[in-house]
Amino acid sequence: MTATVVVGTQWGDEGKGKITDRLAKKMDAVVRYQGGHNAGHTIVVGEESFALQLIPSGVLYPHVIPVIGNGVVVEPSVLIDEIDMLESKGIDTSRLVISGNAHLILPFHLEIDKMVERFLGKNKLGTTKRGIGPTYADKASRVGIRVQDILDPKIFKEKLEILGKEKNAILAKVYNKLPLDCSEIADKYLDEYLPRLRPLVGDTVTLLHDMLESKKSILLEGAQATFLDLDHGTYPYVTSSNPTAGGACVGAGIGPRDITDVVGIAKAYITRVGAGPFPTEVDGEVADSIVDRGHEFGTNTGRRRRPGWIDAVLLKHAARVNSLSELAITKVDILDPFDVIRICVAYEINGEKVETVPYHQSDFHKVKPIYEDIPGWQSDLSQITTAKELPKQALSFIQRIEEIVKVPVTMVGVGPKRDQLIDLKGKS
Ligand code: GDP
Ligand code: IMO
Ligand code: MG
Repeated sequence: MTATVVVGTQWGDEGKGKITDRLAKKMDAVVRYQGGHNAGHTIVVGEESFALQLIPSGVLYPHVIPVIGNGVVVEPSVLIDEIDMLESKGIDTSRLVISGNAHLILPFHLEIDKMVERFLGKNKLGTTKRGIGPTYADKASRVGIRVQDILDPKIFKEKLEILGKEKNAILAKVYNKLPLDCSEIADKYLDEYLPRLRPLVGDTVTLLHDMLESKKSILLEGAQATFLDLDHGTYPYVTSSNPTAGGACVGAGIGPRDITDVVGIAKAYITRVGAGPFPTEVDGEVADSIVDRGHEFGTNTGRRRRPGWIDAVLLKHAARVNSLSELAITKVDILDPFDVIRICVAYEINGEKVETVPYHQSDFHKVKPIYEDIPGWQSDLSQITTAKELPKQALSFIQRIEEIVKVPVTMVGVGPKRDQLIDLKGKS
């Protein structure tokens, strides 16, 4: 019996999809525990690329039960499109189970997400405009509509009517927008979505505990990342859920003592989409090279990701808040041509050196990175399959991160494909 969490340690897009897919080979279930279709997790198998937003990255294996946990927010049309996309590529999605306690994203939420961003003007967060924040806000306000509500059309219509009144008043009076038609929404959700969702909705908590009791292995796939976490991220420039490992317990209904491993995923550099502080952000030629070589454009929104050097201060913090047991470093191949690779090892603030993340956001905005420079390997890593083939500079880079973060690096990504991953287990 094992329950392993995969968690992003930076600002997202670290390669969680690829690592989840890899680990899923030996798992019986893969669970998404938070977030929604703001996520974009890419898996490349042979020449085929899958960009998943809601369905767990374990779905590609016929033996895995993909689970959408109670902590996720679900946009039914996106889910149905994703199911259809996978089926059209020959992937069986019939094992998918969606928690009845997950919350539904409704058209109001999308509209309000866009309006709030517009009203924030230059202070906007740069959300994915998928309605994520407003849906979680309704969940916390106890007026949200859950997946189970749609199974009873009478209850669904009643709840929608109440919610619709409030949301339409906000849209009209605050944002000067036309109201949305609740009966049209009800028709869409009940006539179009319900027949597709009904067979998939279930009691995911009981399912997962029954699996754990019968010695099965579960993988909990985080979306977003530690520094986008509502509590531990760079608030307000965060998402509205808890991607950190503790969120896996809440979002899947598993107790902390059931978690056996926490695998942190870090890119060999960092990217961030949307606004917010980013101490190691770079521009100019280095930035262009990282973005071009790493194809750093949002899987989902197409936005150019902001690039920067790897930040070990953030990684140390992520190791603590997630209680990381191991670390996977992805996209190391993207740094192939660089003659010097920088690791941020501390920050300078008001003339002082600090080695932890300042808790005060104003301080974090001001910190200057202190770098350690590592010689680059300047060779092609993409064809390497074993640790002993790695150039010594690449090994030094990995070992240095390991030393500072004090977490063993067990996997090294050298390309987007499923097999472009070097297993370092036992060698670190
Ligand atoms: P996620 O959101 O954390 O799952 O990451 P994304 O899928 O949004 O972004 C990671 C991107 O990098 C995807 O296009 C992956 O196919 C790709 N990728 C993952 N690992 C590697 C790697 O080790 N090397 C290279 N070159 N690409 C990778
Ligand atoms: P994966 O799982 C990168 C960012 C948005 C924005 C902030 C809030 O693919 O790593 P939201 O729509 O969630 O309210 O936006 O969070 N964001 C992500 N950035 N990867 C993601 O997911 C993200 N999901 C949300 O860009 O800055
Ligand atoms: Mg992504």
